[in-house]
Amino acid sequence: MANKKKVVAPTAHWTGAKPPKLKPDQIPNHVAVVMDGNGRWAKERGMPRTAGHEAGEASLLDMVHGAIEIGVKELSAYAFSTENWRRSPDEVKFLMGFNREVMRSRRDEMNDLGVRIRWVGREQKLWSSVLSELREAEELTKSNKVLTLNMCVNYGGRAEIVDAITSISKAIKSKKIKPESITEKNFAKYLYSPQMSDVDLFLRSSGEQRTSNFLMWQSAYAEMVFLDVLWPDADRRTLWNAIEIYAERERRFGKA
Ligand code: FPP
Repeated sequence: MANKKKVVAPTAHWTGAKPPKLKPDQIPNHVAVVMDGNGRWAKERGMPRTAGHEAGEASLLDMVHGAIEIGVKELSAYAFSTENWRRSPDEVKFLMGFNREVMRSRRDEMNDLGVRIRWVGREQKLWSSVLSELREAEELTKSNKVLTLNMCVNYGGRAEIVDAITSISKAIKSKKIKPESITEKNFAKYLYSPQMSDVDLFLRSSGEQRTSNFLMWQSAYAEMVFLDVLWPDADRRTLWNAIEIYAERERRFGKA
């Protein structure tokens, strides 16, 4: 029998802050985060926008530790959207390289924590060097079970739905499936990550109140929490704060 891998416990927050005490059913299973406000954070400091992205790495890492501490099982991070290609060529180049470097330098830490990394996004246009680092991280962490971290790189909700429809159309054309057999459940099998669970808590930093095309299908019944903190100033306490707000909400899923 293969040796069971030893998982390292998350480190405590530097202030000694502990997660709020909540009942298990008050903890969201899947949290989606829109890491917004890097540019404004940098501008306030007279720094280039890229310095804001760099500072945002620590926020995401701290949130991973905090997600494990509180018992979240799936975390999705919007690291590069299909719309982000419209930014200046310099910023696009920076963001691609940055995603690649973050994956390369952080995958061992993620692996030690028992985090399973998954890339979620569209292959077309994505730098092959970025994709290969993401694939490597996926392979290294594939048997981890503590937390799934979905790295959404070159991701767009509409693109995902259109790509699913393209795959379904091909399956119909080759007579693998019948049009009348399509249901919500089996439609989801054609999304980028069929294993992904529905989003329970959708968190956006920076005070903007938009979903910006993130996990549209999966967030149909998510609770939305918008916090007035710029992403580089966010950390696990921001996540816990959002979870406390979530815990107060009543989720009805269409029922009366
Ligand atoms: C939005 O801030 C952020 C992004 C475009 C996503 C990139 C996120 C990071 C680089 C954070 C950490 C990521 C990784 C991979 C560790 P913005 O530039 O839109 O900010 P603004 O709205 O203030 O201009």
